[in-house]
Amino acid sequence: MRIDILTLFPQMFSAYLDESILRRAQSAGLVEFLLHNLRDFGEGKHRVTDEPPFGGGGGMVLKPGPIFAAVDEIITGAGGGRPKVVLLSPQGRQLTHAVATELAMSPWLLFICGRYEGVDERVRQYLVDDEISIGDYVLTGGELAALVAIDALARHIPGVLGDEHAAQRDSFANGLLEGPHYTRPEQFRDWAIPPVLRTGHAGNIARWRREQALRRTWELRPELLLTAELSEEDRLYLMTLAREMTEGRK
Ligand code: ADE
Repeated sequence: MRIDILTLFPQMFSAYLDESILRRAQSAGLVEFLLHNLRDFGEGKHRVTDEPPFGGGGGMVLKPGPIFAAVDEIITGAGGGRPKVVLLSPQGRQLTHAVATELAMSPWLLFICGRYEGVDERVRQYLVDDEISIGDYVLTGGELAALVAIDALARHIPGVLGDEHAAQRDSFANGLLEGPHYTRPEQFRDWAIPPVLRTGHAGNIARWRREQALRRTWELRPELLLTAELSEEDRLYLMTLAREMTEGRK
């Protein structure tokens, strides 16, 4: 998978992309990141990339010319094909597990990081294929949002996580939060791990994990249960939780 990033601050990316799992993914040839400095496509002697908005109102808006020129050059330089052009902005559709898996299916993405008041509307209208927000708050630019999106989607590129099924076990993958995890030691201070995890009984452990996921979702994000895929056994367990709660209240 190829990911191009167009930004005024390419140096913000390397510290994150060149460490840990994303570094390994690049070395293994599973994903390639290409950073492009929007300033290189700025206009005139001063390489201008932004100007005040028509009609007043303050702030600065990224000009269309440099962005179109950069995207044209990136596409021409690749010698064929067209990326999915994604603008990071607080107005986009919200990044979720489902959106991350969808983005991961694209062979070539080009992220445009906005800054200041945003980008000229003609970029959104005539260049951008998708607009993504990472949440209902405003960042000073799209760079952190691009990194968040890249991190979330990279986990779904086959081979990026050592364990082939790790992404399927993630919180949200099956519509539920994940249950608790434990590692050595078995006994830490006064706290022992749940005994079932020491039994080696795969069926019981799987059922316990499922029930913990249901319990945690019920406690922290009950609205997820409305859309999660639930078995008859899951529903029965949720009824015992409901009963537990009402009895606890008495
Ligand atoms: N740029 C500024 N705020 C943003 C947000 N919440 N998501 C994506 N890009 C942004």
